Amino acid sequence: MFIDTHCHLLIEDYKDIDLVIKENRENGISKIIVSGCSYESIIESLELSEKYEDLFITIGYHPSEAKTTDNNRLLFLESKLKNKKVVGIGEIGLDYHYGKEDEKLQKNLFEHQLKLAEKYQLPVVIHSRDATMDTINILKKYKVKGIIHCFSGSIETAKIYISMGFLLGIGGVITFKNSNLYKVVENVGLEHIVLETDSPYLTPEPFRGKQNSSKYIPIIGEKISNLLNIPVEEVARITSNNASNIFDLN
Ligand code: NI
Repeated sequence: MFIDTHCHLLIEDYKDIDLVIKENRENGISKIIVSGCSYESIIESLELSEKYEDLFITIGYHPSEAKTTDNNRLLFLESKLKNKKVVGIGEIGLDYHYGKEDEKLQKNLFEHQLKLAEKYQLPVVIHSRDATMDTINILKKYKVKGIIHCFSGSIETAKIYISMGFLLGIGGVITFKNSNLYKVVENVGLEHIVLETDSPYLTPEPFRGKQNSSKYIPIIGEKISNLLNIPVEEVARITSNNASNIFDLN
């Protein structure tokens, strides 16, 4: 059985969430972890987590929320961290893809949430885009563990994160023809990897361009199975084990 360690499941994207959950079960996905990463989606994901037994959540403010996240919203986040379905904080981090105009705000927001992760001893799910060095330098200041969501860096960067106690989130990108991610997976091995879809985004081949869903996790598992020449059941077992350990799902 597989675990999708990172997806977004909003009513505006998926009209029929019952169907998504049903299809997950039919395709061997035992658990999914939904990321609520804006004020609105945190509220929505909390509601979903009450409704579905095999759905867990991470909550936290994405760097794109840096300008709109005030103290009240941070207090709201903190008030939900002891909820038993909340298994981590994220996705949080830094994103300079559209510029560094709000760099300071992003860093403040990131560090505030890392402090919460330390305080409540929760793992973090990291979003880092065009910001590798700053992300690493900030993470080094805190005693946290977690997942580098949608990892897309070099082997060298992968090794730095792993040495800091992080797992790499590998998703649909590994099925893309122009991706070099396979080199990282071959190099670091299954021990440091968890699977994720980031649905509704980043749909794996051959469904690229269509809406993504957790039910496609086995495609990513198959791809890694072929790359490493390991049975797909073994890929499922080891990556699910890694996910259960980091999020304390057992
Ligand atoms: Ni995401």
